[in-house]
Amino acid sequence: MIISFVNQKGGVGKTTTSINLAAGLIRRDYNLLYVDADPQGSASQWHSVENNQAFEILHYPEPLHRADIEALSQDYEHVIIDAPPANHDLTSALATFSDLLIVPITPSPLDLWAYSEMQVDIEDLRMRNPELKVHLMINRKIPGTRLGREARQAMDVFNADILKTELCQRVAYIESLISGVSVIQYEPKGKAALEIDAFCDEVLSLMVEKKPEAAEVNFHENSIESAFAQMVR
Ligand SMILES: Nc1ncnc2c1ncn2[C@@H]1O[C@H](COP(=O)(O)OP(=O)(O)OP(=O)(O)O)[C@@H](O)[C@H]1O
Ligand SMILES: [Mg+2]
Repeated sequence: MIISFVNQKGGVGKTTTSINLAAGLIRRDYNLLYVDADPQGSASQWHSVENNQAFEILHYPEPLHRADIEALSQDYEHVIIDAPPANHDLTSALATFSDLLIVPITPSPLDLWAYSEMQVDIEDLRMRNPELKVHLMINRKIPGTRLGREARQAMDVFNADILKTELCQRVAYIESLISGVSVIQYEPKGKAALEIDAFCDEVLSLMVEKKPEAAEVNFHENSIESAFAQMVR
């Protein structure tokens, strides 16, 4: 399964959530490759703290193509890709060959407005990859606040799938990064670790769900550029 974390908006938690999902899946003995597609290399920097060997990570800031990922993923059950913000072409490419796009969103009007622009592109690309699943994910929810409670409701306007799992704003997500570990390693019985455990369960359940029948798609599967060109035509 190829799982990509995308959002054109920066700082929504793509790296934080993807690192922790990867660590959670590794803990369940999945064979996994983490691809850091962000030129900033945030995940790679995290990984180099304490020479963390939690999982294999590949810094791949060049444009990613289906053939690259297929070649890379031969030896792995799952590939998790952390995308940079504001890279429309890469998001489009990832949508054409990923099984699942996870779009972390913080419960803020700024994030919601940013997603409303991106949604149009995703819907377009989904027509070319009918098996693609796209799920929004609430991250940095502040427990006990009205904003937190109403986040899910506010996202209803998108008519999109939203993961049941919500990640709250917790110091453990930041402190674990500083220590170069996941929240599961940092505080195994903490609330953040429980959230990540639920996140893993939910992602795994999506993988076993029956996929829709593949509809005929009209683009050259090895050419992301041509898919993208069709999209913007
Ligand atoms: N649930 C959370 N609780 C507390 N802090 C969080 C949480 N999720 C993310 N953060 C913090 O928010 C900041 C942005 O997170 P992160 O770098 O993961 O976002 P990003 O979407 O990958 O950013 P970019 O678009 O720049 O790649 C970081 O400082 C991170 O530690
Ligand atoms: Mg990032």
